[in-house]
Amino acid sequence: MNSSSTLQLIAVVTGANKGIGLETVRQLATQGVTVILTARDPKLGNDAVSSLQLSNVLFHPLDVRDDHSVAGLADFIGAEFGKLDILVNNAGVSGLIVDVEGLKALNIDPESWLSGKATNAVMDTVIKQNHENAVACLDTNYYGCKRVTQALLPFLKLSSSASIVNVSSLRSELKRLPNEKTRGELADIDNLNEEVIENVLDRFLEDLEKGNLESGGWPLMLPSYSMSKVALNAYTRVLAKKHPGMRINCVHPGYVNTDINWHTGVLKVEDGAKGPVMLALLPLDGPSGCYFDQITMAEF
Ligand SMILES: NC(=O)c1ccc[n+]([C@@H]2O[C@H](COP(=O)([O-])OP(=O)(O)OC[C@H]3O[C@@H](n4cnc5c(N)ncnc54)[C@H](OP(=O)(O)O)[C@@H]3O)[C@@H](O)[C@H]2O)c1
Repeated sequence: MNSSSTLQLIAVVTGANKGIGLETVRQLATQGVTVILTARDPKLGNDAVSSLQLSNVLFHPLDVRDDHSVAGLADFIGAEFGKLDILVNNAGVSGLIVDVEGLKALNIDPESWLSGKATNAVMDTVIKQNHENAVACLDTNYYGCKRVTQALLPFLKLSSSASIVNVSSLRSELKRLPNEKTRGELADIDNLNEEVIENVLDRFLEDLEKGNLESGGWPLMLPSYSMSKVALNAYTRVLAKKHPGMRINCVHPGYVNTDINWHTGVLKVEDGAKGPVMLALLPLDGPSGCYFDQITMAEF
């Protein structure tokens, strides 16, 4: 799509006061899309809008964990625009308690970090996970995306070129999930639905609480974050099947230098936003129900 054909498009980006979200807003807006930059903190959100200096970016508060806040955004879109073309579900948290100085002192190379080889060095030493943080992580990264999507779907249905982009992670890939039965359940697209996904998440939380992550075959590197993104990808496929007229995809943005990974990432936000922006602006006959590793289609 070029800027003349994107002039009438309206987009929402969640968690956009910084990082990949803010850069996604910038790239969409410079291509002519009117973008609603959302953030849970109004001051941070308004400051982010001012920093862009683009007249087609506006702020609206949104905490993806808060039903009232989500409903407020839906009301705003209904009153101001009456439709929505693009939803980028970007808001996310790590769900971890981190000794940042300790993590930096370990000086872990990106390959060991991404492959999971660093698991023993970091987990339960400089990175800790408790039940409360795990619940918050799933509630933001999976249920938060679902909350916002459900509330905005009526407006996306009124668009002639609707697309939803769920910002996922490499940690979402099913090959990283040791439990074969759970992997099978989540890969079985014919029988996949929200109940199946949420049942998996409940089992995960139960095993986390009992200290049974290893025996339960759950990911040991960033467990709740990984499971939140596994669930997000599965939800993307369920949603895409339900709404064949829309393009609905999920994307690993790359290992990007942002707050979420305590600035251990190696890519610039400009590169991290490329995948989400490409998927937001897919042509009408573009792919749907797919997972991308940055700008390349990849295996779930
Ligand atoms: N950076 C990477 O290497 C990488 C890799 C894979 C996937 N990702 C994914 O990329 C997305 C963006 O992350 P990032 O790297 O840009 O990290 P970031 O700079 O930490 O940005 C995360 C954003 O999410 C927002 N957020 C958190 N909880 C929220 C809530 N309840 N409601 C609304 N917004 C909320 C944060 O707002 P506050 O400022 O208020 O906290 C912030 O704006 C995330 O989904 C992340 O999982 C990143």
